[in-house]
Amino acid sequence: MNSALRKFIFHDLQTVEGYIDPPDALVFLSLLAAQREAGFDGGIAEVGVFYGRTYFLLRKISGDRERILAIDLFDIEQEAGGGATQYGRFIENGRRLGLPVDEDLMIKGDSMRVEAEEIIGKVGRVRFFSIDGGHMLRHVAADSRLAAGSLADHGVIAFDDTFNPAWPEVTVGVADFLREQGGMFSAFCMTKYKTYVCRSRFYDFYCKVIGEAPDLRAFGHVETQFLGSKVARLHNPMRRRILYELMMRSGMSALSERAYR
Ligand SMILES: C[S@@+](CC[C@H](N)C(=O)[O-])C[C@H]1O[C@@H](n2cnc3c(N)ncnc32)[C@H](O)[C@@H]1O
Repeated sequence: MNSALRKFIFHDLQTVEGYIDPPDALVFLSLLAAQREAGFDGGIAEVGVFYGRTYFLLRKISGDRERILAIDLFDIEQEAGGGATQYGRFIENGRRLGLPVDEDLMIKGDSMRVEAEEIIGKVGRVRFFSIDGGHMLRHVAADSRLAAGSLADHGVIAFDDTFNPAWPEVTVGVADFLREQGGMFSAFCMTKYKTYVCRSRFYDFYCKVIGEAPDLRAFGHVETQFLGSKVARLHNPMRRRILYELMMRSGMSALSERAYR
């Protein structure tokens, strides 16, 4: 286990408003580390930055030199009284964490208008693509096409908010994507919030990574089926979630990491 990165996930990252929790952060860490070990190169891409919680996780794990392209409308209403904009808060979070944003690789606009060639031109073929932008079917359809079109052979796509009843069209979009691809892509891992897919040729590789990752030992690995492939569903027991929440609320974020060993 990498204690510096775990400290970042359980402490520093929690100071950024946003939507990636420790279980998925540990999956990102395990996948990116395994790719590096295997010599799988390529850029990183993200749709849906918000205030940068996932972006800074990707930056921290991958180091200063990795090219991370990020797309967001960056149009969340300016705070009353002319406060910071969404983009301004994102940049400020980076400064505070000592993880500067590569502004040349930010696309401010609708991801549905971005072409895969533009991404490849900026960061090369992508080894890890996180999708958490618009949550309607048309967004997920466009974003998954964009990801598949720019992905390296060995790349992974992480879809957020799958199986969340608040956003039912995300799940439809992921199912449509897997079926349209006709077996070219397979899901290999699911958490409470995300579904992870890769090209079917790399399915065995990523199943092994999830099964053996030291940082994922704390979770129950429950086998489930999703559209033709066996998927490891990482189960996070209720008692641990409660303990974690209690520690966070009583200012013990640094200690909360122990709950996930
Ligand atoms: C749930 S938030 C993303 C959370 C983020 N991944 C995190 O780590 O906290 C969704 C983001 O998607 C962006 N978004 C929504 N529709 C979009 C679109 N069509 N193109 C680009 N970004 C979009 C929103 O501006 C918002 O910042």
